[in-house]
Amino acid sequence: MPTASHPDIRRVKREGNYPSIHGNKLWKSSCLLMDYLKQNPPEQAKTVIDVGCGWGASGIWCAKKLGSQVTSVDADPDVFPFLEVAADLNDVSTTALVSRFEKLTTRQLSRFDMLIAADICFWDELVDPVYNMVNRAVRAGVKQIIIADPERPTFHEMAARCVERHCADVIEWETRSPIKARGALLVIQNA
Ligand SMILES: C[S@@+](CC[C@H](N)C(=O)[O-])C[C@H]1O[C@@H](n2cnc3c(N)ncnc32)[C@H](O)[C@@H]1O
Repeated sequence: MPTASHPDIRRVKREGNYPSIHGNKLWKSSCLLMDYLKQNPPEQAKTVIDVGCGWGASGIWCAKKLGSQVTSVDADPDVFPFLEVAADLNDVSTTALVSRFEKLTTRQLSRFDMLIAADICFWDELVDPVYNMVNRAVRAGVKQIIIADPERPTFHEMAARCVERHCADVIEWETRSPIKARGALLVIQNA
C-alpha cells in the first residue's frame, strides 16, 4: 500500500481529492482483516464486497491473493482515486461503487460470497446502519461477513447485537509485522 508521501498519492491530492469521512489513509483494521483472511482462507470468495473501502486495501488484497472479483464501496467519491493508485501498484482492479451502507439492498448484496469491512462503525450514528446492513447481508445469503475494528465502543455495540441475532463470533486479533495492529473481528458464517 502506498503511504501519503508516494508520488502518485501526492499527485491525487494535488488534483484536489480530499476524502472527508475519514477515508484519508490506510486504517490499521485493514491489516487485521487481511491477516485473518490469510490465516483463514475463505471457502467461497469469488465475489467480494468491501464496504467503507477507503483506499481499498482489504479488497485489493482479496483481488490479488484470492483472485476475487471485488466491488469497493464507499459513500465518499473522493476515496476512489487513492484506491486506484493502490490497485494499480498491485496490478489488480476493483469495481468502484459510490454508495452508503444504508442504500445497499438485499438484492445487491445477494451477488456476493463475502462482505468485508474495516473500521466502519466509528460514530454512534453508524451503529444502526452497519447492523442493518449486516442483517440484509445475512438475509441475502452472503456466505461470510467479516468486519474488523480497533474495538471502538460503537463497534462492540453493533457486534453484540450480531452475536445475539446471528450467532456471530467476535475474535480478538493482533498483527506485529509489517504493521503493528490490534483489535477485533466480527465474523459471521452464514452457511
Ligand atoms: C475509517 S475509514 C476506513 C477505510 C478503510 N476500510 C480502511 O480500513 O482503510 C471509514 C470509511 O468508511 C466510509 N464511510 C463512512 N460512512 C459511510 C457510509 N454510511 N456508507 C459507506 N461508507 C461510509 C468513509 O468514507 C471511509 O472511507
